Amino acid sequence: MISLIAAVAADGSIGNGNQLLWHIGGDLQYFKAVTTGHTVIMGRKTYESIGRPLPGRKNIVVSRSNIEFPLIPKYKKDGTPSNTSIEKAEDFIQLLKSLKRKKEEVFIIGGGSIYSAAFNYADRLYITRIFATPEKADTFFPPINQNEWEVANSSEIFTDAENNIDYQFIVYQRTDKRSKTK
Ligand SMILES: NC(=O)c1ccc[n+]([C@@H]2O[C@H](COP(=O)([O-])OP(=O)(O)OC[C@H]3O[C@@H](n4cnc5c(N)ncnc54)[C@H](OP(=O)(O)O)[C@@H]3O)[C@@H](O)[C@H]2O)c1
Repeated sequence: MISLIAAVAADGSIGNGNQLLWHIGGDLQYFKAVTTGHTVIMGRKTYESIGRPLPGRKNIVVSRSNIEFPLIPKYKKDGTPSNTSIEKAEDFIQLLKSLKRKKEEVFIIGGGSIYSAAFNYADRLYITRIFATPEKADTFFPPINQNEWEVANSSEIFTDAENNIDYQFIVYQRTDKRSKTK
């Protein structure tokens, strides 16, 4: 099962200059809670912007370039085996097709080009709706058509004290069964 997870501003924007638009602590905690223990898939630019493999997750970086990944210790500091790994995938569409057939939920974590390519394969969207529009943005999330997606879950509206911005967690489930399955 393929899920996309993104923080999306009121105008659909998600990034600028290879950075997130805002640092919202509550959203970063939510992202960690939802994705830890799962596979996360990201574009090469998003990986570079994060700067390290996300711990406690199987990281897959989509890229056609030669990238070097850091060595990940086999054991965590507490002596238990590491559950962090990182690998590269060159054929994103083939990867999506193979993941689509599996029960396991995997998370596409951005950025813009990866969300766009994966959108028609997605079964579920975890959207942090940010009730603000940035001054500048260069990367956008695909439009969510209400005929194809229904709200499965929505949180209360929170306020980020640092930025004084309201945000809300919404989970959409695909209603349109015509999503690409093969
Ligand atoms: N708001 C959010 O939730 C959120 C989440 C994540 C990222 N972002 C933001 O999104 C922006 C980055 O997005 P982006 O679109 O510029 O970059 P991106 O999607 O992160 O990465 C693009 C790169 O991914 C690789 N790629 C893309 N499609 C591919 C395919 N079909 N097959 C193989 N490789 C493929 C290419 O790497 P190579 O050039 O190496 O081949 C491409 O240059 C940043 O501003 C980031 O902060 C926002």
